[in-house]
Amino acid sequence: MDKNEKINELARRRGFLWPAFELYGGAAGFFDYGPLGAPLKRRIEDIWRQYFVIQEGFAEIEAPTIGVEGIYQASGHLSGFSDPLTGCKECKEVYRADHLIKHIVEVPDALSNEEIYKTIQENEIGCPECGGQLTEVYEFNLMFKTMIGPGNKMTGYMRPETAQGMFINFPRLLRYFRDSLPFAAVQIGKSYRNEISPRQGVIRLREFTQAEAEIFIDPRDKTHPRFGEIRDIRMKFYSQAAQEKGVEEEMTFGEAVERGVVAHQALAYYVARTYQFLLAIGVAPDKLRFRQHKADEMAHYAADCWDAEVFLDRLGWIEIVGVADRTDYDLKAHAATSKVNLSVFVHYDQPVKRQKLVVKPDFKSLGPRFKGKAKAVGEALKALSPEELKGDMIRLTVDGEPIEIEPTLVSFESVEEEIRGEEVIPHVIEPSFGIDRILYTVLDHSYYEDAVDGESRAVLKFLPAVAPIEVAVLPLMDRKELVGPARAIVDELRRLGLRVDYDTSGSIGRRYRRNDEIGTPYDVTVDYETIEQGTVTIRDRDTMLQIKVPLAQVANTLQALLCGTIKFEAAGTILSPAKEA
Ligand code: ATP
Ligand code: GLY
Repeated sequence: MDKNEKINELARRRGFLWPAFELYGGAAGFFDYGPLGAPLKRRIEDIWRQYFVIQEGFAEIEAPTIGVEGIYQASGHLSGFSDPLTGCKECKEVYRADHLIKHIVEVPDALSNEEIYKTIQENEIGCPECGGQLTEVYEFNLMFKTMIGPGNKMTGYMRPETAQGMFINFPRLLRYFRDSLPFAAVQIGKSYRNEISPRQGVIRLREFTQAEAEIFIDPRDKTHPRFGEIRDIRMKFYSQAAQEKGVEEEMTFGEAVERGVVAHQALAYYVARTYQFLLAIGVAPDKLRFRQHKADEMAHYAADCWDAEVFLDRLGWIEIVGVADRTDYDLKAHAATSKVNLSVFVHYDQPVKRQKLVVKPDFKSLGPRFKGKAKAVGEALKALSPEELKGDMIRLTVDGEPIEIEPTLVSFESVEEEIRGEEVIPHVIEPSFGIDRILYTVLDHSYYEDAVDGESRAVLKFLPAVAPIEVAVLPLMDRKELVGPARAIVDELRRLGLRVDYDTSGSIGRRYRRNDEIGTPYDVTVDYETIEQGTVTIRDRDTMLQIKVPLAQVANTLQALLCGTIKFEAAGTILSPAKEA
């Protein structure tokens, strides 16, 4: 078994995740999260909320997952959200054509369907299943289509990204944020894509969870007020230029913006926040890089885009987050389709004074000539620009009547006007996270194998902040005198809000192994010393060291260990390594 198979097997057996609908034969691209997977996912999402809602002051919203057709007409998903497909002429299996040439072309997304087909032919690529000949490459729209209500009157689509929910609520969000930029809204929720070959576990699902932030900024100012906080962080940037050379370049975010590697501070700031978040949930820094999209790979809406990519043993470098400058593409598209003005009036810091030429009609002459219409003629003249007033004759239509006026009846005056601001269409910075891919990465990067007492053990070295079980309470034996105090510890810890498991089944060694495998950071063992001396042992998952702690201090000690405010060795009396079997 390779690492990927081992993790999937562990995930199924221990209750993290498994293919959905097992009872009815399954369907590719759908997974269930079990009793350990669901809390792991929730904890990752909650840390994301800390970073992208609470610490940034963004607003979390919840929009429907089914959308009406207009949304996806405007967003471009109806016409352009498709993947290149090819099929086997023999066994009729279908494949994503770009995936079949991944080992030949570095960025297959950049090729046209004709170019992909040519590459397939030139490299004599056949059906991966039966070796049969492949068909020409064609487009397949990835949205799930449905009907809203009876009678086929209204078409709906399952949302392919949560982002559109923020865009179409822009007017209400703008009002909520008191009509000023910048502001941002986020959603964590399901997205749906009818993926062609969902064969990589939760890496490619047909129903998956996204966490997306749409950050609306003033297009004239792409600096970020908190850039100073991340300026000195060093990270590996795999820029367009670095990709030409094939090596990532390490530098600070400050350097990256100064050298133009990342387009501007606002984008760099959210790349840095993404980096911080991924490290905070346990993504390994040496298996993480940020890759800039190549010009021909960039989505139709993006001006610059950086993907967080992680290295996974079986799959190589995989995108888990995309951080894009979507410009004003989406708001302009929705304004055009919905006919609603989606611009924002931005006030200048100081009003700007400007000289302006104004038209002054000669009412003394216009009055006698146009009588009751003179006022309307004067207003029509004022509405013309100086350019339109040039020439031999000024031609106007007032109340449907064509009128000609000599330019001598109009003069100009220069007046000073005060401009307080202007209408802009905000640009959008979008960090888009795939929670399922992130969760799998956390499993992969936390998975270790080592030996204990001559036996190999598998251990998920989860950071305490994401561990689905934080503490396992284990009476040495299933006896009344030990069960009582153990149960009391469980109750106390649960009252404090810790995620606690209580386990009496099997030898203590087996229970340690089980908890190592599910990533429980600490085991509390209740034994006869608990009754005789009022102490318990706490075992550290990663080092397997044990400390002795007085009963009265168990809860405090565990809380401090889980928060990282004390080191394990300093938290109690160290016991010599105990036999674990
Ligand atoms: P890919 O090229 O791998 O299909 P993508 O470029 O289409 O991915 P985006 O459209 O940028 O991905 O989506 C944003 C994030 O949503 C991705 O970084 C990824 O983590 C997640 N994601 C996208 N498609 C899927 C999927 N089918 N299953 C699970 N997660 C997905
Ligand atoms: N919102 C970016 C994407 O899902 O493609």
